[in-house]
Amino acid sequence: MKVLVTGGAGYIGSHVVRQLGQAGHEVVVYDNLSTGYRWAVTCGELVVGDLADEQALEAVFRAHSFEAVLHFAANIVVPESVSNPLKYYSNNTRNTLNLLKAIDRHQIPYMVFSSTAAVYGMPEQTVLTEELPLAPINPYGASKMMSERMIMDVAATSDLKYVILRYFNVAGANPEGVLGQATPEATHLIKVACECVTGAREGMSVFGTDYDTRDGTCIRDYIHVEDLAKAHVMALAYMAEGGKSDVLNCGYGRGFTVREVIDVVQRLSGVEFPVTETGRRAGDPAALMADNRRISRVLGWVPDHDDLDIIVQTALNWEKSWQARKDA
Ligand code: UFG
Repeated sequence: MKVLVTGGAGYIGSHVVRQLGQAGHEVVVYDNLSTGYRWAVTCGELVVGDLADEQALEAVFRAHSFEAVLHFAANIVVPESVSNPLKYYSNNTRNTLNLLKAIDRHQIPYMVFSSTAAVYGMPEQTVLTEELPLAPINPYGASKMMSERMIMDVAATSDLKYVILRYFNVAGANPEGVLGQATPEATHLIKVACECVTGAREGMSVFGTDYDTRDGTCIRDYIHVEDLAKAHVMALAYMAEGGKSDVLNCGYGRGFTVREVIDVVQRLSGVEFPVTETGRRAGDPAALMADNRRISRVLGWVPDHDDLDIIVQTALNWEKSWQARKDA
């Protein structure tokens, strides 16, 4: 298939682009390089452009005949979305609208959309099914929920088929060391801990130790980026074979506490970086895990890297080579 990948120069998009190339798809990446990198586009063509620029976007759709659009381009930092909501409603919601207008004009048959567990907000349950009511508690989650809704509404009045993937906590890196998370000022737990190992950061905080969990710290469902990437490639194949539009959680269905994650990073690296226990971070639910029965059933998705040691080891390997590259 010929596919357009927005945000294909970013952390998750770049892993998907690589797998799409390996699966024989022809890829065009559209990315404004705000948090992505030219080197991360390891196959296909890169068009540097912004989704806010509807003319530039239209030119890409005219120049190619796409069968599918995979839409990754977005801002993803929850606290930033609280302090600057309009950035999120512009770059996430409004830009998804721009993209949908082009998809609709050009009658693109398939779309895969990067959504998030943040659409569920602070549910009572710890294992989340796709049927739960959507109740985001921050503008990031709301911007993605609104994007989901627009996609569904467009699909309801056109031939567009979609798969919306709700990501849980994505981490790890390409095992060959070619790609990884290079996002500046990342706030994600495994990335932050790996930066402490390389010395890019002097130490880190544990946000809250009084949650109702096995060691008092929050539990999250960490999923290896290569397994997540595989779900996208499978979603395309599923739609091409006539599969119905669907919304699917992407996670392993089990979780680790913040302390457990930090222990694995310290054990595998042999570096005992300073860790300070501080108060809770606003908006953190105690425990979030994916009920992943639907994605297994619908796509036949089976994870290959469901192992926290592998997730952390690949992230560490990447962080070291990325740091060396930045220092060079
Ligand atoms: N944490 C720390 N110290 C840090 C960073 C994180 O203790 O330096 C803790 C957080 O408080 C949380 C856990 O580690 O308990 C995981 O935090 P992340 O920031 O890595 O991830 P989140 O679970 O907050 O966010 C993820 C996705 C978001 C999505 C959200 C939905 O990255 O995109 O899940 O709940 F919105």
